Amino acid sequence: MTPIDLRSDTVTRPTAPMRKAMAEAEVGDDVYGEDPTVNRLEARAAEILGMEAALFVPSGTMGNAIAIRILTRRGDEVLVERRSHVVRYELSGMSVLSGVMPRMADAPGGHLTPEHVRAAVAPRAYYKSDVSLVVLENTHNLGGGTVQGVEEVQGVVAAARECGFRVHVDGARIWNAAVALGVPPKALVKGVDTVMACLSKGLCAPVGSILAASRERIEEARGARKLLGGGMRQAGILAAAGLVALDTLVARLADDHANARVLAEALGRGKGVRVAPVETNIVVAGLEGRTAPDVVASLRERGVLASAMDARTLRVVTHHDVSLDDCARAATAIEQVLG
Ligand SMILES: Cc1ncc(COP(=O)(O)O)c(C=O)c1O
Repeated sequence: MTPIDLRSDTVTRPTAPMRKAMAEAEVGDDVYGEDPTVNRLEARAAEILGMEAALFVPSGTMGNAIAIRILTRRGDEVLVERRSHVVRYELSGMSVLSGVMPRMADAPGGHLTPEHVRAAVAPRAYYKSDVSLVVLENTHNLGGGTVQGVEEVQGVVAAARECGFRVHVDGARIWNAAVALGVPPKALVKGVDTVMACLSKGLCAPVGSILAASRERIEEARGARKLLGGGMRQAGILAAAGLVALDTLVARLADDHANARVLAEALGRGKGVRVAPVETNIVVAGLEGRTAPDVVASLRERGVLASAMDARTLRVVTHHDVSLDDCARAATAIEQVLG
């Protein structure tokens, strides 16, 4: 039997309408700005995110790298939450590609507050480096898919402005945050400098993310994308999938959130397991008894794939390609393994 794959929402496959749209996509050379489908996707994404312009990039990692590159100068520091994706899973990208250093802050659910921002200001001295950029992650992956609300984001943006910092949102799952809150995605990025949003996670597109910002910043980002080797040619084949993703697959994320709660309840019944309240499609559980790799191995034997984020942290993620039924079966396996 095919395993129930809860390792990540990146494992989804393109849907049938997506494959059709990809096959029929009108294309051109996007390095010349001549791919009509890429242009449509960028315009649509900019509109949804409430920004002047957007750029289609091959991955979320590249979108974050470009944002950090265009919003900082070499030698700057970037204020980030300690478990954020940009520092945990994108190598030392910001240091290697932009010559900047992370300044780590701890936040229980992963979300930086105005206090974190203000605490990053220090009296100027010639021997000190300064923070120039704040990176938020919404939803926060390792925080457990936690959502940062509209007012919380606005508080951080206001504090960042007071301190003269720029703001980038790693919104790989901004769609999940918006659906969970019942607000349009643009409400969650109002006033920020740049936002990266992924099409290839819960939204099923095979490849691609969006970087959205002002027109001027996106022009700069286009150069940075080329520098990093991300200038694509007939990328309309991929952008066509992104358009189907944005237009038809966002609202259904609510199902993934409901399915995640089924898994969280099963995990919560396990001995020595701590599960944070589930807000979206990611469930992160702290284990006291067995190690996470050990639990992952036992679940695999029962046809359920999960992730060990570290020795004591287990993660399961719901998505388009796992049904409520699959999650109920996975919940039974979880109870058998942890019960
Ligand atoms: C929060 C977050 N940001 C960025 C990324 C990077 O996206 P990609 O895998 O497309 O490079 C991920 C990937 O899972 C993510 O979870």
